[in-house]
Amino acid sequence: MQNQIKSVLERTFVSTVCITQFQSSIYQVDPFRIDNRSRHTIKFRQWVLHMATILRDWSYQYQWLYDSISWLAALTVGGEQRFRQLPLAGLPIEPETRVLDLCCGSGQSTQVLVQRSRHVTGLDASPLSLQRARQQVPQADYVEAFAEQMPLADDQFDLVHTCAALHEMAPEQLRQILQEVYRVLKPGGWFALADFHAPSNPLFWPGVSLFLTLFETETAWQLLQTDVPQLLQQVGFSVRNQVFYAGGSLQVIQAQKGR
Ligand SMILES: C[S@@+](CC[C@H](N)C(=O)[O-])C[C@H]1O[C@@H](n2cnc3c(N)ncnc32)[C@H](O)[C@@H]1O
Repeated sequence: MQNQIKSVLERTFVSTVCITQFQSSIYQVDPFRIDNRSRHTIKFRQWVLHMATILRDWSYQYQWLYDSISWLAALTVGGEQRFRQLPLAGLPIEPETRVLDLCCGSGQSTQVLVQRSRHVTGLDASPLSLQRARQQVPQADYVEAFAEQMPLADDQFDLVHTCAALHEMAPEQLRQILQEVYRVLKPGGWFALADFHAPSNPLFWPGVSLFLTLFETETAWQLLQTDVPQLLQQVGFSVRNQVFYAGGSLQVIQAQKGR
């Protein structure tokens, strides 16, 4: 039995290292190394990148694909319903609480937020996603804008929530977005987020690596190396909670703006 467990762990470790190495080799293309590689390897890499681009495009184009992937990923934390509730756990949300669902996409979390508050605004840069959100969750107001430059007044929200979006931001963009979140929050307001984190359990590395390779870009890999609580503190937030799920591959953070 012990030998079997050892062998599974060894195989997981080896596949993790392989996938991670492969992924980093895709994004850190060194022209001198490529010259020395066989044409087949280069063609295979190009094919994987091409497939990843297609899958990513499809997942935004076809709502059923995005929802299926999201549903599948959420199984690791006990299902989509639970996943959507995680960032909100313990927060004071009343019908009069003013909530911003940042990078709301097609309204997957907005749907949950409108059940708690009468004043929910969804913000996203994608007109297509917003069109779907308006149809699926008409109870909320919507703003089409970039999160790093929100056309919203200072100090107006009690809660800013964002789910599965920060991994799409480049490091400087992420910093700007956190500053914007701080600006639009009222003093004492809450910022709740859920996003990827580097798994602490090695068994989760192969799945996360495969997922990021097929559906994400290098910004998601950069987020795995980012200390989000530290960034939040640099912007002025007090980090109240950081909880990990799915072997450490999902982080949920709740931070508060000073009064
Ligand atoms: C992976 S989806 C997440 C959608 C939704 N929050 C969810 O939980 O399913 C990321 C969303 O972020 C939006 N987005 C990406 N970059 C953005 C930016 N700079 N400003 C505003 N929205 C952005 C995309 O249009 C997309 O709808």
